Amino acid sequence: MQSSRLAYGCWRVAGTWNPAAVTPEGRATGRRAVIAAHEAGYTLFDNADIYCGGEAERILGEALREVSGLRERVLIATKGGIRVGGDPRPDSPPRYDFSAAHIVRACEGSLQRLGIETIDLYLLHRPDYLAQPEEVAKAFSQLRAAGKVRHFGVSNFRPTLVTALQAACPMPLVAHQVEISLARLEAFTDGTLDQCLIERLTPMAWSPLAGGLLGGGASDLLPSQKLYRPEPFLPALDAVARARGATRATVALAWLLKHPSNILPIVGSIRPERIREAAQAPALELTREEWYRLLIAARGEPLP
Ligand SMILES: NC(=O)c1ccc[n+]([C@@H]2O[C@H](COP(=O)([O-])OP(=O)(O)OC[C@H]3O[C@@H](n4cnc5c(N)ncnc54)[C@H](OP(=O)(O)O)[C@@H]3O)[C@@H](O)[C@H]2O)c1
Repeated sequence: MQSSRLAYGCWRVAGTWNPAAVTPEGRATGRRAVIAAHEAGYTLFDNADIYCGGEAERILGEALREVSGLRERVLIATKGGIRVGGDPRPDSPPRYDFSAAHIVRACEGSLQRLGIETIDLYLLHRPDYLAQPEEVAKAFSQLRAAGKVRHFGVSNFRPTLVTALQAACPMPLVAHQVEISLARLEAFTDGTLDQCLIERLTPMAWSPLAGGLLGGGASDLLPSQKLYRPEPFLPALDAVARARGATRATVALAWLLKHPSNILPIVGSIRPERIREAAQAPALELTREEWYRLLIAARGEPLP
């Protein structure tokens, strides 16, 4: 699969996390964001069954139908394997479920909401503590044989669990989606990106701007992101941005793009002007000196 160097992420396209609160205006804003991303050259769209209870997949599906031929020009990625609380009984806890039956059912639900016949890239969203690699492989094979999924990958896995799953799967896993940004550096040192280089997995970086903290500000942060303190290194980001005539957000994305593992940042803004601004990042080639200056600033301490 070949895609643009940036993916567009649909997590926020409904404008709310609550499916009951989605408005017609909110849906229209979400469709406009998707279409703006397409027009700006993004060809990979990321989604998940749990984003706004499935509404984010429906909105992406609406946009695919709104623009003639759009489906054929882009790649659709979506994720499954998380079950929210209350599913199927009111007292069922939030949990992960990689049983073959759930993976197949979740994927079919995504296909229906997206209104497409094949998902280009299907990712397991967060590792299931009870995952049986052979059972996952069975579900993947079934989905591929039925023409419902072309390629598979994972998200938020430990490298060792990727290895365990790959050993059981007859097809190569092609992507690993994890949080990577100047505010979240673990993937560089915990083996995740090393494994991507070895196995030729494409690393997809979620929250590449730390949910907005590395751009023009954040509104909806995940609980873990509320603990980030980027303020001390923002001046370093601004200095590079000034020197290169770029914006802070573009520099933060270009910093990810320079890594040899071919990190694919997933841009999450729903504002067309910011979606277009981010699309400038691939043209901004940072020097090694700039890259390391930003790494050191983000670490908050010198390299050993
Ligand atoms: N696999 C996983 O577990 C997982 C978890 C989270 C997300 N994801 C994926 O990753 C995608 C991106 O995550 P994210 O939305 O947190 O990414 P992000 O790009 O780090 O953050 C986007 C947020 O930053 C704000 N922002 C502020 N200044 C910005 C600027 N200059 N440019 C762009 N945005 C700016 C945006 O607000 P405005 O909309 O107002 O511009 C938006 O709320 C999601 O859509 C989803 O597909 C995956």
